[in-house]
Amino acid sequence: MAAAVDESQKWVLMVTAQTPTNIAVIKYWGKRDEKLILPVNDSISVTLDPGHLCTTTTVSVSPAFTQDRMWLNGQEISLSGGRFQSCLREIRSRACDVHDKEKGIKINKKDWDGLHVHIASFNNFPTAAGLASSAAGFACLVFALGKLMNVKEDQSQLSAIARQGSGSACRSLYGGFVKWIMGKDDKGTDSLAVQLADEKHWDELVIIIAVVSSRQKETSSTTGMRDTVETSLLLQHRAKEVVPKRILKMEEAIRNRDFASFAQLTCTDSNQFHAVCLDTCPPIFYMNDTSHRIISLVEKWNCSEGTPQVAYTFDAGPNAVMIARDRKTATLLLQKLLYTFPPNSDADLNSFVLGDKSILKDAGINAPEDIATLPPPPEIKGQQFKGDVSYFICTRPGRGPVVLSDETHLLNPETGLPK
Ligand code: DP6
Repeated sequence: MAAAVDESQKWVLMVTAQTPTNIAVIKYWGKRDEKLILPVNDSISVTLDPGHLCTTTTVSVSPAFTQDRMWLNGQEISLSGGRFQSCLREIRSRACDVHDKEKGIKINKKDWDGLHVHIASFNNFPTAAGLASSAAGFACLVFALGKLMNVKEDQSQLSAIARQGSGSACRSLYGGFVKWIMGKDDKGTDSLAVQLADEKHWDELVIIIAVVSSRQKETSSTTGMRDTVETSLLLQHRAKEVVPKRILKMEEAIRNRDFASFAQLTCTDSNQFHAVCLDTCPPIFYMNDTSHRIISLVEKWNCSEGTPQVAYTFDAGPNAVMIARDRKTATLLLQKLLYTFPPNSDADLNSFVLGDKSILKDAGINAPEDIATLPPPPEIKGQQFKGDVSYFICTRPGRGPVVLSDETHLLNPETGLPK
């Protein structure tokens, strides 16, 4: 009898999903409710191609699991934090009946409360690079658990759960162009993400990310925005007067694929976010000299062309995200950037330009020596800052979360432990 019980406890059910990261073009900065993660303004983002930047997460359930456990990039991490607990609680409370006929597994809605999950997550980019890994991570966790638990809620409802893991995560539930509506409800039921347009709507755009070398440990977004809310008068003006109008203009620019307006709004909003950081007591400095040089290069180039070619935006760190109007412009931009920020002598090109490497070919760069043959960009008077950029990633707007096939599971299908 006992053996039969053990047999029936042996099954493991799992789902693997992939979720993109996103970059805000109208920034979220400041919460009106810290616990529920409710923002002081709407924000808009572009989802980045998950082929180049994404999180993959496997979630599994088995009666044999004795506690909820999670591994991030192979290392076990604690799930005891309030944000993980909120996401797990919210998604569990929406779990439904699951019937896997093939495996002969039946889980009733009411069983979920007594079952534990194992989670393994992997970022295909360095977690420490400051590239919104928490956004893709929490979005993937919630999306994958939603599939495992047969949650019937739509993507927007799931975004409101991911939001409680990390604010910006709610925007990673969709591809293309996404708006996080701040909402009015004190409980946060209407603070969720909606898709403005999918990734095919404006597919000429090319995105180049400069991962800037930095020795400084940055203030986390959570701490930084708390200090800003407590001390900055400029934030109040931004949230009340500036962002609402900007959101409308940005939606229009995206709808009409109006690059000039899109770029102007993106750059201005990034600069205002960093101004708000400076207006915080004590002031927060996220950008460094390299960030400022990149701004200067892009601003001068845009000015000399008479119309914007490239938009730039910076999150809570020195990395630059540049959005070029088309591939030809992106090729020219990459040439200017490579000339200005060449790799350290020992770096190989393959690890210096990541993502869509075909732009590198278009730029005529096949070997590190080719960089020296590029024309010096007039915008920065041909100055060079070797090693100041760790690497570049070439990418584009991308799709939202997807479920992956069984071969991609990060957990052993028999044991539910990392492979
Ligand atoms: C500068 O979403 O990381 O990237 O909600 O506290 O987890 P928490 O913060 P987080 O903040 C992101 C701030 C930003 C701007 C943005 O993505 O809109």
